[in-house]
Amino acid sequence: MSHEAPNLDFEGSTPYEDYVKADVLTHLQHTLSDDPGEMVFLVTTQVMELWFTVIVHEWETAARALREDRVDAATEALRRSTYELEALNASWKPLARLTPAQFNSYRGALGEGSGFQSAMYRRMEFLLGEKSASMLVPHRGSPRVHDELEKALHQPGLYDEVVRHLARRGHTIPDAVLARDVTRRYEPSPEVEAAWTEIYAGDADTGAARLGEILTDVAELVWRWRNDHLVATRRAMGSKTGTGGSAGVSWLEKRARNQVFPELWTARSHV
Ligand code: HEM
Repeated sequence: MSHEAPNLDFEGSTPYEDYVKADVLTHLQHTLSDDPGEMVFLVTTQVMELWFTVIVHEWETAARALREDRVDAATEALRRSTYELEALNASWKPLARLTPAQFNSYRGALGEGSGFQSAMYRRMEFLLGEKSASMLVPHRGSPRVHDELEKALHQPGLYDEVVRHLARRGHTIPDAVLARDVTRRYEPSPEVEAAWTEIYAGDADTGAARLGEILTDVAELVWRWRNDHLVATRRAMGSKTGTGGSAGVSWLEKRARNQVFPELWTARSHV
């Protein structure tokens, strides 16, 4: 066995740095207050933005695969996203027990800044079918972000691709669903519910049944993120209004009630 030490000599920056850009990444922590607790708030937010980015990538990969009826490739990308969602949700840990006094130490420095203005989270929501043109408005001043969001608004969401795939596999899906205006939020349909009922009542070892279950895992994990955020917010600020101008916890409660992939849940009553 060889015990040679790693290389120390590089022309210019290290190959690690060239790939990871760690120097850039670890110098983006510009806190706004002198409070020592702000660092973990900022870094947790940045870590979550990175996970949002990976998850959007997986769901776009899955949507593309479904468009080509490559259901196994779509299921694989969705499965990877469930592991990433678990890691995303675990990153609530350092903020989950923030007290109002601790949060107040730097809350004022955040001004009107709020996660509500996260464009990558919005792309996740768009892919989940929670489309809304008004969500582009906050980003008018940032052309690249605005363009990416606008493109995402006009593209069919992940669930649109799922439903179209089911139609091509012979399930009866009305034209009103298949040709819906994809810039609007997805509304549940009795025919889509009937398709999932049929899939769930049948052989569990089919591509469609596996796809349904992995989508349900995704929906559940997204719901858990929303709830962990809600509880952390309730602990940190009670029923105060949010920095983004919303009613705070009561607004988040309403958001958390939105069902992700609604018919995947309602169909279960009919199997
Ligand atoms: C414990 C600290 C946190 C508190 C007290 C908090 C509070 C809030 C509040 C009150 C809102 C509603 C909008 C507003 O009026 O501001 C909101 C929205 C949001 N927050 Fe947080 N937040 C916290 C941490 C985070 C973190 C770490 C992230 C990660 C990126 C995040 C992401 C979001 C997102 C994406 C929304 C919009 C949700 C939606 O559109 O449904 N929040 N937050």
